[in-house]
Amino acid sequence: MLREAGEILKNGGLVAFPTETVYGLGGDALNPTSSKKIYAAKGRPSDNPLIVHIYRFEDIYKIVKEVPDICKKLADQFWPGPLTMILEKSDAVPFETTGGLGTVAVRFPSHKTAQKLIEYAGGYVAAPSANVSGRPSPTVFKYVDEDMNGKIEAIIDGGEVGIGLESTIIDLTVDPPQILRPGFITKEKFEEIISKVDVDITTMKGDTGKAPKAPGMKYRHYAPKGDLTIVSGKPESVVSYINEQVAKDKAAGEKVGIICTDELKAGYLGADCVKSAGSRTDEEAIARHLYTMLRQFDDENVTKMYSESFDSSGFGQAIMNRLLKAAGHKVINV
Ligand code: TXA
Ligand code: MG
Repeated sequence: MLREAGEILKNGGLVAFPTETVYGLGGDALNPTSSKKIYAAKGRPSDNPLIVHIYRFEDIYKIVKEVPDICKKLADQFWPGPLTMILEKSDAVPFETTGGLGTVAVRFPSHKTAQKLIEYAGGYVAAPSANVSGRPSPTVFKYVDEDMNGKIEAIIDGGEVGIGLESTIIDLTVDPPQILRPGFITKEKFEEIISKVDVDITTMKGDTGKAPKAPGMKYRHYAPKGDLTIVSGKPESVVSYINEQVAKDKAAGEKVGIICTDELKAGYLGADCVKSAGSRTDEEAIARHLYTMLRQFDDENVTKMYSESFDSSGFGQAIMNRLLKAAGHKVINV
């Protein structure tokens, strides 16, 4: 089955597959026609570069100009795993795959199915998240099927993914290295290995007037269909503010959903759907459930949503980055 899927990729077809972060939509990274097909299947602008996935470290040499020491250090520590590194590309990588950029994003995932598939495909698989552009990345087979069925040759069912948010992206072409997209591998974890790492300011602020360095981050990704507002403040103030808004929205005929935590769930009254992401102390659970909850609200045709805010340090930075993007940076402090 995986061998067949590998053949499909070698022949220029597309296969969606599980990784430890989210499902990916794979094509042969060294074949410009495959990359074009990926953009078409996702409905994604073609200036938005793809991540090239490898299944063993030594394969990186073919696709980058140079492997700096810092890349080797980070690979030793975090690969295989949820980390993507940006480096100068070699001529082997077509500009169709890098969205016209002279750099390439490389990731060596830890998911065994992904590794086998990449091996059978010839070693280099370009894979964005397997969602239609603008929708939350799929973390379960059902949502890949919903977005991609009929558009690609095959989908590999790997159950629910482990992490639930996309890989951390770090740009190694600048000094100090810069995090372009926060993820499971945090700034703090990098700084145990390399002395200083910056974070692209646009990841946490909406009104910087600057373009994000990862082209994909400028789009209103992870966008649910309904209108989402994040409410931040003391727990009791958050609950009472949201309850007041829900009452007004219901009177105006809206269908209302709430994203909350186990600790506060019982306090919410009057909404159509109240979903807990898990305990506030369990960031991994919150990350794993976030996209699924946004999708479920879409399925239930919710028109207005409120979410509690989360601590934005450590892995929480990735959670808040995605939530802020889903909300178009709409945050109310109460
Ligand atoms: O966890 C992940 O990284 C998943 C799984 C499937 O591996 N993939 C993923 O790919 O999230 P995608 O295409 O949805 O997001 C890739 C992001 C985009 O924001 C894109 O702009 C950025 O990476 N990117 C890719 N190549 C880049 C480059 N050369 N320079 C800057 N940003 C780049
Ligand atoms: Mg994506």
